[in-house]
Amino acid sequence: MLFVNFKNYVFGEKSVKLAKECKKVNNKIVLGVGLGDLYRIVKETKMKCYVQHIDYQGKGRNTGYNLVENVKANNGKGVMLNHSEHRLSFEIISKTVKRCKQLNLEIMVFVKNINEGKKVSRLKPSYICVEPPKLVGGKVSVSTANPKLIEDSVKKINGRILVGAGIHSKRDVEVARKLGAKGVAVSSAVTTARNPGKVLKELI
Ligand code: G3P
Repeated sequence: MLFVNFKNYVFGEKSVKLAKECKKVNNKIVLGVGLGDLYRIVKETKMKCYVQHIDYQGKGRNTGYNLVENVKANNGKGVMLNHSEHRLSFEIISKTVKRCKQLNLEIMVFVKNINEGKKVSRLKPSYICVEPPKLVGGKVSVSTANPKLIEDSVKKINGRILVGAGIHSKRDVEVARKLGAKGVAVSSAVTTARNPGKVLKELI
């Protein structure tokens, strides 16, 4: 799986454009988008989209919370939780995973290390994405700086493991796959590129 997290690098018109670029390269790429852009991106591209964060609160009151029902109603397929840029307590992750399961949404929980991955695996999310926070947004990838983390994550954490942080080359992706990861999560290399399509073609 190639997962492209748009973060807040792009939104609105630009996020739709980026989603279209991703689709041109491969319509199986999964996108991590903002809730505000979800409806339009899905409508215009039919790409599989996750939202970048969601709350466990339910329908009705709860002003300002972003609900799993909202993701569902806007044709999202999944949610990301606990990204290193949006950390949550285990209690909140647990409550939110349960809510997502009730609505049949896929869930990707981000973890910073193997211990956290083991704990989160008890919740049986669809994917666990291991990202060392220090490497996120940088030029040195997890595949280069810490291949052992990939290998150990696959061995020691139950579930489907993705890895991310600093991924920017074909080699990074190949190393991750070779070590058993089901795929990679990438952001800045694609979202800040002058020609995202070119970068994606190399990664895929
Ligand atoms: O979710 C993926 C992301 O955190 C990795 O970011 O910019 O290091 O590819 P980046």
